[in-house]
Amino acid sequence: MRIDILTIFPEMFESPFNHSIIKRAKEKNIVDIQIHNIRDYSKNKHKRVDDYAFSGGAGMVMMIQPISDCIEELKAQRDYDEIIFMTPDGELFKQNLANEISTYKNIIILCGHYKGIDERIREQYITREISIGDYVLSGGELPAAVLCDSIIRIIPGVLNDETSALSDSFQNNLLSPPVYTRPRVYNGIAVPDILLSGDDKKIDNWKFEKSIERTKNRRPDLLKDND
Ligand code: ADE
Repeated sequence: MRIDILTIFPEMFESPFNHSIIKRAKEKNIVDIQIHNIRDYSKNKHKRVDDYAFSGGAGMVMMIQPISDCIEELKAQRDYDEIIFMTPDGELFKQNLANEISTYKNIIILCGHYKGIDERIREQYITREISIGDYVLSGGELPAAVLCDSIIRIIPGVLNDETSALSDSFQNNLLSPPVYTRPRVYNGIAVPDILLSGDDKKIDNWKFEKSIERTKNRRPDLLKDND
């Protein structure tokens, strides 16, 4: 999978993309992430990427020209399955959308800033608008990193244990059961006996029951929510 990210803060991606699972996916050539600095495409002599809103009011608006030129350059090189804009007024990001996007070959992710981006970008180029939650962040970079992490980790071959992505919370609308490791007893608190029983069937049943119990207690909405 190839991911092209358009941003005015390329450095914000250095840490999230160079550790842990994403780092490993890049090393295995399962994912190729290219970061593009929108400022490099500005034809303004001061390399400006934002301007005042026509309607007046507070906040600057990201200009159409640098973003349009960058997207056009990329589109001339390959076909894209989706051109995504990270925005708090987009569709709410959930596991089923992560699963869908993880099957794509090429995507562009545009990170907005300031008061927004010129609406004509959204109308002409954007095929999907995604929000990572009902709160407003300073820009689309952290949401883009969240999106990338969630899609990359479920691409086959990225995680060593293929089943572990499938058993994540939300994959079947259930939260994950509790997990334990050594020691068996710590400060008098013991690991549930059943997990040490060696009876796989009983253990699976216990995990399933705990998943249901946890989901009922913490996220009852998930048990009704099948989208
Ligand atoms: N940009 C700012 N806030 C955001 C959010 N909640 N989701 C996606 N992009 C954003």
